[in-house]
Amino acid sequence: MTEEAPALEIRDVSHWFGDFRVLNHIDLRIEAGQIVALVGPSGCGKSTLLKAILGTHPPREGEVLVGGEPVRGPNRNVGIVYQNYSLFDFLTAEKNVAFGLKLDQSSLPFRIFQYPRWRKLRAEQMRMAREYLRRVHLAEACGKYPHELSGGMRQRVAIAQALILKPKIVLLDEPFGALDEATRESLQLMLLHFYQENLQAIQRGEVPEYTILIVTHELNEAIYVANRVVGLSRYHDQAEKGAMIVYDRPCPIFSPDDPRDVAQFIEQREELRRAVFDPNYIKHHQKYVTFWKELADQESSVGNPAIDNAN
Ligand SMILES: Nc1ncnc2c1ncn2[C@@H]1O[C@H](COP(=O)(O)OP(=O)(O)OP(=O)(O)O)[C@@H](O)[C@H]1O
Ligand SMILES: [Mg+2]
Repeated sequence: MTEEAPALEIRDVSHWFGDFRVLNHIDLRIEAGQIVALVGPSGCGKSTLLKAILGTHPPREGEVLVGGEPVRGPNRNVGIVYQNYSLFDFLTAEKNVAFGLKLDQSSLPFRIFQYPRWRKLRAEQMRMAREYLRRVHLAEACGKYPHELSGGMRQRVAIAQALILKPKIVLLDEPFGALDEATRESLQLMLLHFYQENLQAIQRGEVPEYTILIVTHELNEAIYVANRVVGLSRYHDQAEKGAMIVYDRPCPIFSPDDPRDVAQFIEQREELRRAVFDPNYIKHHQKYVTFWKELADQESSVGNPAIDNAN
């Protein structure tokens, strides 16, 4: 694989509103192909951090780089899906998915004055939209309008809409929060499929396609869908300065066919509860920030676990 810049690099980012300090010296590096869950108490600054990454609300201090490029405003390298994403009601699923490509690849004068070329381009965009709907397991819904889709199906369309622009990273802000349990589980499985595809791409020497930062308040979900959990919290030894990353550890990798055995999550869930959510447990902010060290230890003892897992 060619040497790629990290999908996301947050360098010493701090943010505050008036006197209220929200984010305190946040550093975070996410490599292409990682699926990272971000958890933390309500109001700790998760959405503020996502807005800094998205470029809509730059941080007061520090820098965000996506694919090695400093983020100066919203750009196509970062996609986002919210809990209640509203699709365009008057467009079918495939036209909703193709919408970003249309804006990105053609202007109105081009569409009017170069109609034959536009038709050809449009046919290719619609082919891509169908391909991305297939990736989110919605091939059969191409021609349906949002009101004909369930909440879970609409979220799949929203995710396809973000992915089709091939962003370096997709941010999911509590994307499954409004869904019932069974629907939520089927969307979690979709993320596990994406991770397996990433592992296969790495094995082929390609850059993996799906890099995801998912905010969730469901700790089981975080451990299940992600290969890494990051905890943001102000319950640490410099609390007055704002939230810091107080937890950053790998988590077990499940394949979509594995039984969902919640018992396997218990230990890490309890550790997360204590390290990130317990206001009475004040520790050094880096006590559980060990992801890169643990990864290096794993690789030196058993070869590359990511590649081993893809077999
Ligand atoms: N525009 C703003 N002006 C002033 N304070 C703000 C503003 N936006 C957010 N805050 C404050 O910053 C803190 C972090 O908010 P943020 O929305 O990032 O939290 P969060 O971790 O996403 O919470 P939740 O889990 O409830 O979504 C909160 O205390 C919030 O009240
Ligand atoms: Mg939020």
